[in-house]
Amino acid sequence: MKTESTNPEASREVEAGKKPVVLSGIRATGRMHLGNYLGAMRDFVTLSERDDRECFFFVADLHTLTTLPDADQIRRNVPEIVLSYLAAGIDPERSTIYTQSSVPETSELFWLFSNLMPVGELLKSPSYKEKAQMHPDNINAGLLNYPVLMAADILGPRAHFVPVGEDQYTHLENARDIARRFNNRYGDFFPLPQPLQQSGIRVPGLDGTGKMGKSDGNTLDLVDTPDEMWKKLAPAVTDPARKTRKDPGNPDICNIYTIHTYVSTEEELNWVREGCTTAGIGCLDCKKTLHKNISDLLAEYQERHRDLSARKGYAEEVLREGARRARKVIGETVREAQDRMGVAAYRGSS
Ligand code: TYM
Repeated sequence: MKTESTNPEASREVEAGKKPVVLSGIRATGRMHLGNYLGAMRDFVTLSERDDRECFFFVADLHTLTTLPDADQIRRNVPEIVLSYLAAGIDPERSTIYTQSSVPETSELFWLFSNLMPVGELLKSPSYKEKAQMHPDNINAGLLNYPVLMAADILGPRAHFVPVGEDQYTHLENARDIARRFNNRYGDFFPLPQPLQQSGIRVPGLDGTGKMGKSDGNTLDLVDTPDEMWKKLAPAVTDPARKTRKDPGNPDICNIYTIHTYVSTEEELNWVREGCTTAGIGCLDCKKTLHKNISDLLAEYQERHRDLSARKGYAEEVLREGARRARKVIGETVREAQDRMGVAAYRGSS
C-alpha cells in the first residue's frame, strides 16, 4: 500500500485535535476505467478506511463542462461516478461524497484564487496545451482556468493529502503555489497539499498510447464483463517487435506488461518477462493471465455495483447529504479567506 508523504510542510499544518484531510475528485466524462481505479480510487478506499483521516470525495462536474457540453450525458454520468465510489468500498457515513457544483462556495474560492495565479503559468500548463490541441474548436476559458478551480477544490476543505494519478501532479503543484502565495500575502492559513509519497502511476491505454483515458476509446471499464474485457484485451497493442509468436519481445516497452506490474504477482511478472523475451509464451498467453487477474480484482467491485445500481435514488441521497456536509466545511474556509482578503464584510447573516 502506498504511504502518505511525511513531508513536514503538510503534516506540521494539521491543526491540534483535527485529523489530516484527504480529498480527491473524478470528472463525469464517461465510464470509470481501470486507470481511474488503479491510479486513484483504490487509494481512496484505503485512506477512507482509516480512523485518523477525514475524507472528501467529489464528482468534478464543473470541470467536466470544459470538454463535455452535453447536459444529458453529464446528468447520467454523475450518479454513475458516485456508484463507482460506493462500489469500490467508500462508506458515505465515514467520507463526504458530493458534487462540485453543489458547493457554490468552491466557485467563490475559485475567483479569489484567480487573483493569485499568473496567466502565464496557466498558458504553460501541459494539460491546457494538450486539451487545446485535442479540442481546437473549443478552447474555452474554463480549460485555461482549470487548475485554479482544482486548487479551490483542494483548498476548500483545506486538504493535506490528494490521492491522484501521475497526470494530475502539475495541477497539484499549481494548488501548492496558490496556497503559498495566499499564505505569504494574507498569513498562514492553507496547508500545502501533497500527493501520496510514492510516485503516482499512469495506466497505459490498450491502443499503445501512454495513458488509458475516458475519451480515448482505449479503456478497460470497471463494469465490463469478463467477455467484454477479453474482446478489448485480445487485440490490444503490445511490443511491435512481436510480429509472430516466434519473435521475442521486450516487456519494458510493452503497455500490457506495464498493466501486469499493477495487478500481478512477482512470480507471474517473472514468468511473463522470461516467456516474452525468449518467445517461450505468446502475447495471448500473457494477456490471458492479465485478464484473469483484472477479472479477479474487479469481481467484488462489480458485484457491489450491480447491487447498488438496483437501489434507485440511493446515489442522489448520498449526494444530498454530502453537499450539506461539504458546504459547511468549505463555507467556513471561504468566509475566512474572504475576510483575510478584505472582501465580503457586508455579507449579512450566514
Ligand atoms: P480524471 O477524472 O481524469 O481522473 C480521475 C482520477 O483517475 C486518475 N487517472 C489515472 N491514473 C492512472 N492511469 C490512468 N490512465 C489514469 N486516468 C485517470 C487521475 O489521475 C485522477 O486521479 N482534474 C481531475 C479531477 C479533479 C480533481 C480535483 C482531482 C478536479 N478537481 C481535485 C483531485 C483533486 C481529473 O481530471 O481526473
